[in-house]
Amino acid sequence: MLIDDARDRVIVALDCDRERALELAHALSGHARWLKVGMTLFYAEGPKIVRTFKELGFNVFLDLKFYDIPHQVRGAARSASLAGADLLSVHGMGSGAMLAACREGAEDASNERTDRSKLVAITVLTSMNQDSLAEIGIDAPVAEEASRLARLGQANGIDGVVCSPIEANDMRALLGPDALIVTPGVRPKGAALGDQSRVATPAQAIQRGASHIVVGRPITGADDPAAAFDAIVDELAREVD
Ligand code: C5P
Repeated sequence: MLIDDARDRVIVALDCDRERALELAHALSGHARWLKVGMTLFYAEGPKIVRTFKELGFNVFLDLKFYDIPHQVRGAARSASLAGADLLSVHGMGSGAMLAACREGAEDASNERTDRSKLVAITVLTSMNQDSLAEIGIDAPVAEEASRLARLGQANGIDGVVCSPIEANDMRALLGPDALIVTPGVRPKGAALGDQSRVATPAQAIQRGASHIVVGRPITGADDPAAAFDAIVDELAREVD
């Protein structure tokens, strides 16, 4: 894979406060192209943090995992799109109507921007297992449930899924070549696992079908985050066709 393409495939998760996030954004400018803003940063700083990163030239994955009545999700997707987010996440479990509303909100906002925010569905959270699914009344095997929700997303205008690199293969086969498949749980060779357990290296994740990988602490916790980012990109360029 070309280095330039590899840079577009790595999303850096900034799960930290504003000051550190800005420090990291400046350090990664000219290296990374994508940043992920999650609830921790967004609920402290609001849409202006998305605008700030956009002004610095980054694409932004706003990972707020919408789950509410369709009317509210339509509005949330519209607002998040207007803040400038390039990619948004939504829970597949919220029903086909909610997923369709999410797409409508993004479409609506696209009239006021040059493009439409892309959408990815969370299927079964990787923190959940068979027991926690049973707790909420779902008896299907986890993988079957995840596939069902991925198809529901696709049928309702969602562009792809977030899943573990372990499931990326199956999701790629299920959703086809154009789907976005975003995988966290990625650890470069030799990196600390932290609280991640079902991990793959960046190259393995992409080879298994991920379109994008999300990497946080191995980059944000490194002494030189830009060098850590570049090492991942080099690994992708070397190991992925
Ligand atoms: O620091 P680390 O590389 O573990 O960060 C991974 C990012 O991906 C975090 O923002 C985390 O919330 C997110 N994530 C995850 N596992 C999932 C879904 C999202 O680690 N199943």
